[in-house]
Amino acid sequence: MIVSEAVMSRFSCRSFLTTKVPQAVIHEILDVSRRAPSGGNLQPWHVYVLQDDVLAQLIAKVREGRVNSPRGEGTEYCIYPTDLKDPYDSRRDKCGEDLYATIGVKRSNTRGRVRQFRRNFEMFGATTGLFVYIDRTLGPPQWADVGMFLQTIMLVAREQGLHTCPQEAWATWHKTVGEHLAAPEHLMLFCGIALGYVDPDAPINTLVTERADMDDFVTWVGKSRRP
Ligand SMILES: Cc1cc2nc3c(=O)[nH]c(=O)nc-3n(C[C@H](O)[C@H](O)[C@H](O)COP(=O)(O)O)c2cc1C
Repeated sequence: MIVSEAVMSRFSCRSFLTTKVPQAVIHEILDVSRRAPSGGNLQPWHVYVLQDDVLAQLIAKVREGRVNSPRGEGTEYCIYPTDLKDPYDSRRDKCGEDLYATIGVKRSNTRGRVRQFRRNFEMFGATTGLFVYIDRTLGPPQWADVGMFLQTIMLVAREQGLHTCPQEAWATWHKTVGEHLAAPEHLMLFCGIALGYVDPDAPINTLVTERADMDDFVTWVGKSRRP
């Protein structure tokens, strides 16, 4: 698989088969992904790999935690600015609308939306969960490095016939996740990544998210020209 095939075939998969991912495959993905670049070669990422009982137990803990805290534990970082401006706000809105449309959930159907959102905390059925942490003393450039690491994992996963879904939603359960993993205090949970084999028949996986036109984000300067 060439790189652009991996890029074009990656999407946020939100329904997985129960087929288990061999440990050797996860090992290979992470071994390649550690070649991701980072400023000053800091390599600021820390990853926990969960499968089987240990993943099931975490899922159960979050389910129990919801009884007293339906919205989770708050986040340690701001996932979106509270006053998210356009075009970002409309893009997020459109992406949500399109996602729920794939499963026939209307905007007014709050319960249906919540039910789907909670699938985040079941890893969307994936048999492997990765939890990606960053040292809390690090700043925006290192968070960008972790982003490159995430994308590398997701692309190498494609090469292995696997799909992924990056999940900031897990940051809302950072205490439960951190305790479950015995993660040291100096690490902050950025996100989870669901990893597994795509369910090809799941309507939710038919979503193809939009992208802005190149003219919306590229400025050709001087003699450089759009071909
Ligand atoms: C860092 C990051 C965190 C994300 N968190 C979530 C999440 O918690 N739940 C979810 O369903 N999708 C999540 N997504 C997926 C985005 O919604 C998705 O990448 C975006 O809509 C573009 O769609 P695509 O990935 O299918 O191309 C996340 C993506 C990124 C990069």
